Amino acid sequence: MKREILFVDDEPNVLQGLQRMLRPLRDVWSVQFAEGGAAALKMMAEHRFDVVVSDMRMPGMSGSQLLSAVRDRHPEVIRIILSGQSEKEFILEAVTAAHQFLSKPCEADVIKATITRACLLRDGVSSPGAQAVASSLKALPVNPAVYAELCEQLTSDGAPLQKVGQTVAGCLGMSAKVLQLVNSAFFGLPRIVCSPAEAVVLLGADTMKSLTLSCQVFEPYAGDSQEMAWRDALWASSRDGAARAEARAQAKGLDARAVQAAVTAELLRDCGKLVLASQMPEAYAQVRERASLLGWSAAEREVFGATHGEVGGYLLGLWGLPPAVVDAVIAHSAQDALLACAA
Ligand SMILES: [Fe+2]
Repeated sequence: MKREILFVDDEPNVLQGLQRMLRPLRDVWSVQFAEGGAAALKMMAEHRFDVVVSDMRMPGMSGSQLLSAVRDRHPEVIRIILSGQSEKEFILEAVTAAHQFLSKPCEADVIKATITRACLLRDGVSSPGAQAVASSLKALPVNPAVYAELCEQLTSDGAPLQKVGQTVAGCLGMSAKVLQLVNSAFFGLPRIVCSPAEAVVLLGADTMKSLTLSCQVFEPYAGDSQEMAWRDALWASSRDGAARAEARAQAKGLDARAVQAAVTAELLRDCGKLVLASQMPEAYAQVRERASLLGWSAAEREVFGATHGEVGGYLLGLWGLPPAVVDAVIAHSAQDALLACAA
């Protein structure tokens, strides 16, 4: 079945250029074009698309406004911003609306690889409901204690970025978000960054302040005491798992980059649980009840039609996290995770 892709730009020249560039893909993609956000939403109301790729600055409705509307109306659709480098300051505006960012001019190969990988990862999540839960998520909920510490560090003058990085690395939700941003085309780094602490240093103090204090991308989780205890335990086990992964990867003699990928993969391994629990708390309470009888993954499959490994891996893949980390989260066993990170 052909993938249905919609490109949106206010400049007809840009759309014509894309049309020419993507012509060789006509056997695998069915591509349509919309001149602006309103036209795009109209087309999406009448036709099912897999992916929407939008310009950022458009009159009437910005790319970020368009993709927010798409997230609400068509949560299952994969959302990508394709924008010029001069629009870098707008990236933070779109950080909860878009899954990924590509910078103009963009080679056909890069567009093709990005869209193909996102669609394949989505195919790996067998339930459409679970796909939509992952793709409609703005950000992972963050640990309230770590969040308070981060705000304090960013408001009090002069907390060194290294220290801020350590704080961020102590929270699964924040770690995923900074890795999404730092690995996006807008930062134009020549290499893949796997370490949340390093990502913070590369993003810099201003971006971290905007993310945390003005854009309010990080939402601390809340709930009753049982819920909080469950999340705290999840966080603690992620941190323990990350420490064990580091020891295993070092014992195997992996290089520093692969060790860091293994550590991050283990830290983020159960992010799918947070996704499912925060988006569908009642259903997830059911999973927790059924898990003692069926085992965790079987209970998730029964309730959601998908496991937290599939959902978490899809989310991180959609966000463009390093492939080694994403593959390790999907593999979800220590041994396979190590192989993914060593590759
Ligand atoms: Fe897990």
